[in-house]
Amino acid sequence: MTESGQAIGIFDSGVGGLTVAAAISALLPNEDIIYLGDTARLPYGSKSKETIIRYAEHAASFLLKKQIKALVIACNTATAAALDFLREMALVPVIGVIEPGALAAAATGKKVIGVIGTNATIKSRAYETAIRRLVPDAQIISAACPLLVPLAEENFAAHPATRLILETYLAPFISAKVETLVLGCTHYPLLRTAVQEVVGQNVILVDSAATAASYLHDILQEKELLSAKESAGKLTFFATDTNERFSQIAKNFFGEHFTSLTQVDL
Ligand code: DGL
Repeated sequence: MTESGQAIGIFDSGVGGLTVAAAISALLPNEDIIYLGDTARLPYGSKSKETIIRYAEHAASFLLKKQIKALVIACNTATAAALDFLREMALVPVIGVIEPGALAAAATGKKVIGVIGTNATIKSRAYETAIRRLVPDAQIISAACPLLVPLAEENFAAHPATRLILETYLAPFISAKVETLVLGCTHYPLLRTAVQEVVGQNVILVDSAATAASYLHDILQEKELLSAKESAGKLTFFATDTNERFSQIAKNFFGEHFTSLTQVDL
């Protein structure tokens, strides 16, 4: 039986999901969290749907074996390809990040909405479908930005190369006068400052993190699975390939609560 004292499992292909894990930890500080970054097989975004489902299945199985009470797919690419599959496979609630991202976009009240994501996410049209359900008359422009994930993984947020690449990718959104831009990949909030500078301060940037966290809160509450612990939750981090940059970025988010990163094979 699932119990409230069990941990929340979160996975992404790399560091991007830390943006979601941080929002969850901020909203639900007493929850234990087990994070898995599948860094050995990153990027997911350039792979076929079948391969992404296979990788997501391995990542989910690893976390489910740790007796988690809920699974968060902190990766838009894996959500687009494998949400239905993982919901069938898992006996615990499974939360993706695309619906929360679409909700965040709809909440801005704007009609000209841009979406950037990986090749696989954009090709799936999952954001367009989710946004259109909420804002039927939205004008949606989307584009894949495959170079942004390696830049985020390299911690290149402030590097001039990132700026140049963003100017190239985002020019069509500026021409189309987008009012809201969805960061449809959990890695992109790591480049948020540079993205905002390139598109200008009038464009509202949204991502899934905060909305996904409150979505998770509501589901745990409804199922009476919120932790009753009074002390701070324990954060445990795994990656399929360990490197210093992962630890640096995790430390930026979690400070002293990030103690170690353990390498695992899925
Ligand atoms: N962070 C993942 C996402 O939200 C993608 C990164 C990758 O391509 O592996 O889509």
